[in-house]
Amino acid sequence: MPGLAANIGNAVRYSLTYVTLPLVGVFSLQTESYSWVALVRVGQQKRNRELMSGRRVLITGGAGFLGCNLADHFIETSHDVVIFDNFYRRGVHHNVEWLRERHGDRFTLIEGDLRDYQALLRAADAAEAVYHVAGQTAVTASVANPREDFEINALGTFNALEAARHAADNPVFIFTSTNKVYGGMEDVAIVEEATRYAYVDHLWGIDESRPLDFHSPYGCSKGAADQYVRDYARIYGLPTVVFRMSSIYGPHQFGVEDQAWVAYFVIAAVKGWPITIYGDGKQVRDVLYVDDLVRAFELATEHIDVSAGQVYNIGGGPRNTLSIWVEFAPLLSQILGRPLKAASYSDWRPGDQRVYISDIRKAWRDFGWEPQAGVDEGLRRIAPWVLENQALFEP
Ligand SMILES: NC(=O)c1ccc[n+]([C@@H]2O[C@H](COP(=O)([O-])OP(=O)(O)OC[C@H]3O[C@@H](n4cnc5c(N)ncnc54)[C@H](O)[C@@H]3O)[C@@H](O)[C@H]2O)c1
Repeated sequence: MPGLAANIGNAVRYSLTYVTLPLVGVFSLQTESYSWVALVRVGQQKRNRELMSGRRVLITGGAGFLGCNLADHFIETSHDVVIFDNFYRRGVHHNVEWLRERHGDRFTLIEGDLRDYQALLRAADAAEAVYHVAGQTAVTASVANPREDFEINALGTFNALEAARHAADNPVFIFTSTNKVYGGMEDVAIVEEATRYAYVDHLWGIDESRPLDFHSPYGCSKGAADQYVRDYARIYGLPTVVFRMSSIYGPHQFGVEDQAWVAYFVIAAVKGWPITIYGDGKQVRDVLYVDDLVRAFELATEHIDVSAGQVYNIGGGPRNTLSIWVEFAPLLSQILGRPLKAASYSDWRPGDQRVYISDIRKAWRDFGWEPQAGVDEGLRRIAPWVLENQALFEP
């Protein structure tokens, strides 16, 4: 009955077109047999969505930049959110105050340290999702104090995994790794252009098959954690997902000279602080606005049947790139409506990549994610937060 089969195939395709809007581009190009797979995934997605409402979500590092944006979204969408943070990062108590202003007591705050396994075990016990974003975030700090970096990022992640493994509900576990696990990528051919470095090949950016090459204590501690997280899916069946992230930026990011360059340069420009560029300022990054990252967490969780055990490069992708000063400075000056002070220049930092651009197609294929905010739009959203909160920033 080939005619009937074709009709069923068409019906499936049409229903997919209406049911899975974010995935239309993926499935409309597929063969009929794949459409059936897609239909199964649609059903699964719907079930996962239902499971998603009212989930108990533990966010380690929930006071920090990514963590408070995640918390805000998941509290707003009626999840039961627990924040676990030791306020290691200067300034982040302001983020908790902001969450309290918006949500009152609709979330739980546990002041705890990742290095305290028993505290994590108690915090994770009832969780259905663990978003593990707490960490030591700066390469420079890791070089100055590699033991502390190891204990927070490697041992701390191991503790979080063990806590999740012993939790009652086999929670989804998403970990924020970094593009630094790919090292300096010295073998990747690049060219120097007037305002930036660019890849000779790799037009889509760097994908997840890129060999690992940990460089700097931070690269090593995050890389070890990244591999543990991936392996817990294989060995213990914990539904884990690794996001290897490029530069994320947005409101509530207390950028400092050592980390979070987008926020730091906006803050420094607004406050009139001197700015030092390490290298020549033509280093290129793909940048991602934080709301888009929050959506990636949500979609990867909804599609955990596909994303479990997987690693994804997550960033702005080839469409959202910027050289860190030569291109960024004029754009920032335009957004702030005034000239910026001239920057001074210093030596390159260890392991600093001339170009890093994420190939984000795997996340699109697996859970229909891609960035929505462009660079200009994202920067226009972070600038007002800095301007309105100038009193919070100290040099
Ligand atoms: N922001 C980015 O561009 C980016 C890029 C790649 C990877 N990452 C990773 O994403 C995660 C979050 O980054 P962020 O930008 O939100 O940083 P952040 O510093 O704003 O947030 C990290 C939070 O973790 C908390 N923390 C640190 N050590 C802790 C400990 N021992 N116990 C409990 N809490 C602790 C801090 O107090 C802070 O609130 C980090 O793991 C970082 O390595 C971030």
